[in-house]
Amino acid sequence: AALLPPPGGPGDAAGQALPVESRPFASYGSALHIALPQAPRAGQLLTLLIDYEAGEGPGVCWLSPEQTAGKQKPYMYTQGQAVLNRSFFPCFDTPSVKFTYSATVKVPEGFTAVMSATSWEKQKDNTFVFKMSQPIPSYLIALVVGDIVSADVDPRSRVWAEPCLIEAAKKEYDGVIEEFLVVGEKLFGPYVWGRYDILFMPPSFPFGGMENPCLTFVTPCLLAGDRSLVDVIIHEISHSWFGNLVTNATWGEFWLNEGFTMYAQRRISTEVYGLPYTCLEAATGRALLRQHMDATGEDHPLNKLRVVIEPGRCVNPDDTYNETPYEKGYCFVSYLAHLVGNQSKFDAFLQAYVNRFKFQSITADDTLGFFLEYFPELKEKGVDSIPGFEFDRWLNTPGWPPYLPDLSPGQQLMRPAEELAELWAADSLNMEAIEAVDIMGWRTYQLVYFLDQVLQKSPLPEGNVKRLSKMYPKISKAQNAELRLRWCQIVLKNNLEAEYSKVKDFLHSQGKQKYTLPLYRAMWGGSEATRALAMETFSATAPQLHVNVQNYVKKILGLAAAE
Ligand code: BES
Ligand code: ZN
Repeated sequence: AALLPPPGGPGDAAGQALPVESRPFASYGSALHIALPQAPRAGQLLTLLIDYEAGEGPGVCWLSPEQTAGKQKPYMYTQGQAVLNRSFFPCFDTPSVKFTYSATVKVPEGFTAVMSATSWEKQKDNTFVFKMSQPIPSYLIALVVGDIVSADVDPRSRVWAEPCLIEAAKKEYDGVIEEFLVVGEKLFGPYVWGRYDILFMPPSFPFGGMENPCLTFVTPCLLAGDRSLVDVIIHEISHSWFGNLVTNATWGEFWLNEGFTMYAQRRISTEVYGLPYTCLEAATGRALLRQHMDATGEDHPLNKLRVVIEPGRCVNPDDTYNETPYEKGYCFVSYLAHLVGNQSKFDAFLQAYVNRFKFQSITADDTLGFFLEYFPELKEKGVDSIPGFEFDRWLNTPGWPPYLPDLSPGQQLMRPAEELAELWAADSLNMEAIEAVDIMGWRTYQLVYFLDQVLQKSPLPEGNVKRLSKMYPKISKAQNAELRLRWCQIVLKNNLEAEYSKVKDFLHSQGKQKYTLPLYRAMWGGSEATRALAMETFSATAPQLHVNVQNYVKKILGLAAAE
């Protein structure tokens, strides 16, 4: 490391190499200590030059050609959230610090580099220059180098993918993105990031989507052929205001990012697709929260919105990832809207909130303080301390949300799915009634909702799932990842050995954490046969999983000592 001269004249110690030391910090990184020649004055601007190399580390993923869709060339990508970018570059790796950045990236011939940046330019010698001109936290810096190409889909949007996927990518999202951006701007204020592009990642990408500014990264599972998984895109777009502009200051309050984003996502979805459909999607989210709380126990310390991340408790922020910040967070924001009692007033509050805290990192106290300040009549009424619904309880008590938004506008879509699930759970099947229901016209999320109901009632009486599988190839042979996940869960819970290979195939085809972990948990909690299936599948697929996902699976399978 070295000190650079300040702008406008050389400083005394400029250019001089500084003593550097790496000190232990946590299992997920170490602290870089740089000794300055003299103590800086308060407010003094210092420029440090740090020479470093990034190699192994969870933030930077190096894929072999076999791990890509095209199988021809290697690929590298970075995933910063939550605390992985410290293995990509030295930084204040906390969401409480924001900065602009620029980068010059030289790649081998035949490769393209893209970053989460407001501008980029290809220069000679395979060199790309990027600049992010808005302040962002470290976790939003992202880089991909690979054999990737792009296609325009909207005025400010293009899709990026490996050449073999680009046609499918263009078809999936041609002409649909702009409307989400326009509705988002109408609801939450200006979209400040310039472009909104989407990059389809290799199959092992561990998330559905990652809201890297200007360039969302998504799983190729979204290429369902029918736009049915577009809610993920709306979600990542919603982070353009909640998360990327107004950011949680600590990962212990991750719900500020995700809970508000779920709320924003469903506001946009309501405007574009209507309330019934949005309530149906929200009901599938609620089912995920139910499953999560059932699996962990409602009182689990992670089942509160404000999580304590400190040595001796939960140390690694990445280990706190679960449904609570998303769906309980969504319930809390919905509760705030319910207190206001008027959608347009609450929309106006959200817009004022974004405007008040844009480019800042904040805590829940800032959010709730602003809410009460914005609605003085509510403050007067003491809405923060209504027994059973205290803001403090929302934040600090684990368990099922004390308030659930009304999803009954979705009943027209949910009811038929619930009734059909009832029919399939019966001891003796009423085939006449079952055959009278035509699921061919159902939307993907109706099928998802139906399958969640079936899963909840599983194991079904002997033989029912086998018949269900025969009757609905649209479900049991589905290519849609959300349907495949549920079908695999049903297969496992009902010990349908004849279809265990589908679980294996699905886990071979992609590496998304939210699909992978539930299936390994189900296999490990099942029979001897499913445990063997888990071991066999993991030993074959481990090398293609993100290291974090690998480690979580190892914990489930008892292959790693818990920390
Ligand atoms: N920011 C998250 C993904 C994430 C969370 C990465 C924590 C690393 C640590 C992203 O916005 C997200 O929530 N993705 C969801 C989309 C879904 C809720 C529509 C996903 O990947 O499933
Ligand atoms: Zn999110």
